Amino acid sequence: MEREKIVIFDTTLRDGEQSPGASLTTQEKVEIAHQLARLNVDVIEAGFPISSRDDFEAVGRISQEVQGPIICGLARAVEKDIDRCWEAVKYAAKPRIHTFIGTSDIHLKGQLRKTRDEVLKMAVSAVQQAKSMCKDVEFSPMDASRTDPQYLYDVIEATIEAGATVINIPDTVGYAVPDRFGKLIGDIKGNVPNIGQVVLSVHCHDDLGMAVANTLFAIKNGARQVECTINGVGERAGNTALEEVVMAVRTRQDYFHLTTGVKTREIFTTSRLVSRLMGISVSPNKAVVGSNAFAHSSGIHQDGVLKERSTFEIMRPEDVGIKESQIVLTARSGRHALRHRLGELGYHLSGEQLNKTYERFLAVADKKKEIFDEDLIAIVEDEIHEVPEKYHLEYLHTSSGTGTVPTATVRIRIDDEVVQEAAWGDGPVDATYKAINKVTKIEAQLDEYSIKAVTSGTEALGEVTVKLKDNDRTVVGRGASTDIIEASAKAYIDGINKLVVRRRLRGDQ
Ligand code: KIV
Ligand code: ZN
Repeated sequence: MEREKIVIFDTTLRDGEQSPGASLTTQEKVEIAHQLARLNVDVIEAGFPISSRDDFEAVGRISQEVQGPIICGLARAVEKDIDRCWEAVKYAAKPRIHTFIGTSDIHLKGQLRKTRDEVLKMAVSAVQQAKSMCKDVEFSPMDASRTDPQYLYDVIEATIEAGATVINIPDTVGYAVPDRFGKLIGDIKGNVPNIGQVVLSVHCHDDLGMAVANTLFAIKNGARQVECTINGVGERAGNTALEEVVMAVRTRQDYFHLTTGVKTREIFTTSRLVSRLMGISVSPNKAVVGSNAFAHSSGIHQDGVLKERSTFEIMRPEDVGIKESQIVLTARSGRHALRHRLGELGYHLSGEQLNKTYERFLAVADKKKEIFDEDLIAIVEDEIHEVPEKYHLEYLHTSSGTGTVPTATVRIRIDDEVVQEAAWGDGPVDATYKAINKVTKIEAQLDEYSIKAVTSGTEALGEVTVKLKDNDRTVVGRGASTDIIEASAKAYIDGINKLVVRRRLRGDQ
């Protein structure tokens, strides 16, 4: 069955750009417009040409350069605005003029200081003027959701008569509630005789967090154009989020029986571009595009998703352009999630190795909120090395500080015996290495010592690498811990264990 299409009207560059602090350069607007074309939106509202020279220039450039969508400019219902708007959009293959005027009594009395009759006449003559230049004209009775319904019907009927092709119903201040807003759309359809000649559109604001819900109710009641912005940016609390409406319609086709032309795989790229250029970060828990939108953290959810992802995922991350769902390894993760991630990293552990690694993983996860791949590699390499361990560090204590002689005490298991030694040195690592030398009685030449934080933050896992030289051979020892002295001791002992194996292979002791 062919599904009816919802027209996606993107106003990121106009209403979205009205977000406090979000101003964009002309070049940035053009870049976003190209990406919106790749996303395959139907209409790009490129700006408000009369509002500034920059806006005029940006709308002009987008009209000339961006192919595919209708390019629309905004104009108040006044002559000079409409002229300026046409000057900017006229280059587009498919231009549109969008003109508006407030129609609620609150706006009429409080801002316009005009009668209903005067405003109706202004709306009609604005549409007529726009229509004389451009065949595609959109009209918005601003603050429609707070406008007297009968007056609203009259204005809509008259502006359609004057040539409007799209009638947009704005919930300008985000005051509407879903079922009443849906009913308003149904009532407009039922009470405006010529409404069938136009596309009925909605434009919602999110002041009470209901922009998307109001939009979806409007669609359910017959609206066929949705005005929205990427990431829901816009004046005050923002506008309807494009990605949420598009994915709701797509995911719940069983309910909406509608479609959009949006290439959903471009959603994530578009979201990040807009966020970066506007300097407005996307909250991690933002629906569809937040960094946590496809991240599973609880052990039960991770287990479910790994067995069958529909258990805890209603959308596929790749459908919105995110590579894959993320299993976030935390102290709440189970063995299943750990084994899965290690497998992806190329480590296929036996049951016993996995148990050891899991214990170590939990110990680190208790200290760190999230375990990254680099942490895992360091843990597994440290835990599952193939070298037989002649020496194993059981205990380490160091003391150092300004005005103190650095000392270290180590307790090392050698096969079945435990040996303890203490030493002082030039620093805690030097003292530790000297104490280890006393136990192992192996004086290896320390050729290189390096330390790196494998993840960021003060609680990062440190990985120490040492190169020990024995005659003409060099071995590399590695150790990882959130305590860098412990990581240093482990790396040194790992190197010594390797030296022991080498010596045994060469036949000397
Ligand atoms: O919110 C609003 O009413 C608007 C109009 C210009 C459509 O942005
Ligand atoms: Zn708006």
